[in-house]
Amino acid sequence: MIRVLGIETSCDETAASVVALEGDAAPKILSNVVLSQIEEHAAFGGVVPEIAARAHVEALDGIVEAALADSGVPLSGIDAIAATAGPGLVGGLIVGLMTAKAIAAAAGKPLIAVNHLEGHALTARLTDGLEFPYLLLLVSGGHTQILAVRGVGDYQRWATTIDDALGEAFDKTAKMLGLPYPGGPNVEKAAMSGDASRFAFPRPMKGSAQPDFSFSGLKTAVRQAATAIEPLSDQDVADICASFQAAVADALADRVSRALARFTETFPGTKKPALVVAGGVAANRTIKATLERLCTEAGFTFVAPPLKLCTDNAAMIAWAGIERLREGMAQENGFDFVPRSRWPLDSVSTPMVGSGRRGAKA
Ligand code: KG4
Ligand code: ZN
Repeated sequence: MIRVLGIETSCDETAASVVALEGDAAPKILSNVVLSQIEEHAAFGGVVPEIAARAHVEALDGIVEAALADSGVPLSGIDAIAATAGPGLVGGLIVGLMTAKAIAAAAGKPLIAVNHLEGHALTARLTDGLEFPYLLLLVSGGHTQILAVRGVGDYQRWATTIDDALGEAFDKTAKMLGLPYPGGPNVEKAAMSGDASRFAFPRPMKGSAQPDFSFSGLKTAVRQAATAIEPLSDQDVADICASFQAAVADALADRVSRALARFTETFPGTKKPALVVAGGVAANRTIKATLERLCTEAGFTFVAPPLKLCTDNAAMIAWAGIERLREGMAQENGFDFVPRSRWPLDSVSTPMVGSGRRGAKA
């Protein structure tokens, strides 16, 4: 039996969780406590790093205590402490990693510094027992990437955004249209009563041989369309949202279908090829339906873990800790690990110019 306490503080959620693995049985999430800071940041229309770091300091002790209490496992029964050490907002990372180091040192347990993206990448093995290799589409407020997940610590980034993250594009669109933060759910809601064919927004990168994403041109097109018909009625806002969402789904479909084809070519022997989706944007029903259709057409299984495990949480960090412990890779990232605001999963891929720089998780 392995039991790991996970801690996540890389953006605007303070989270702690205990996950257990026993033999060949499915892993169990014994507790999963997530405190969102949305209210603290809402007035500013986005995550304010300094406010986030302070809120983590205030909340983390109580959240860890609650996660341990909910799990029914005393600290002495925990095998290791895993904490997000990057990428993310450095203030929050310092709070989480230092707290984890203190707990680990005091309790005499190993400390595992986890890459937040690895947490997202391995979640489908926690929820669905998925086997390597598989394809991951990560679409959140700070990241838009396609990764080939080949093993624990073995990732290849096949695509990333050259400007804005997809969640960021939703948030900025919402802000331009006067919809509240966080923008994604509000854009989706408004789009439901809108006409998706009213505005012909661009489909960035569609048909391009370069595998990456781009969303800043789309954002500009939305701004121009909105400015041209000001003042906006509720119907105008709904139509813009619906047209924006259609453009995003279409652009995403083009990028993802290229990656599915590449996966089939790269891993021809895979018995059950799968596409996993992670990140807050995975909540969007239009996007989910588009991905599901693509997968069916290409003979892929579509895996969408429950939303609370798709968005930021500490169960995925505890699970990544378990995977690393199991592989004997825990000591790679131990007590001397320093938080990294930038920490690509795939150290071989060249960094994109400007990629992720503006995201909350840059
Ligand atoms: O994964 P997440 O909770 O945190 C980050 O790591 O960023 O993702 C948050 C992002 C935000 O940009 C939010 O607007 C977007 O996910 N989002 C959505 C929806 N729900 C959340 N975007 C589109 N449609 C949604 N329903
Ligand atoms: Zn995340």
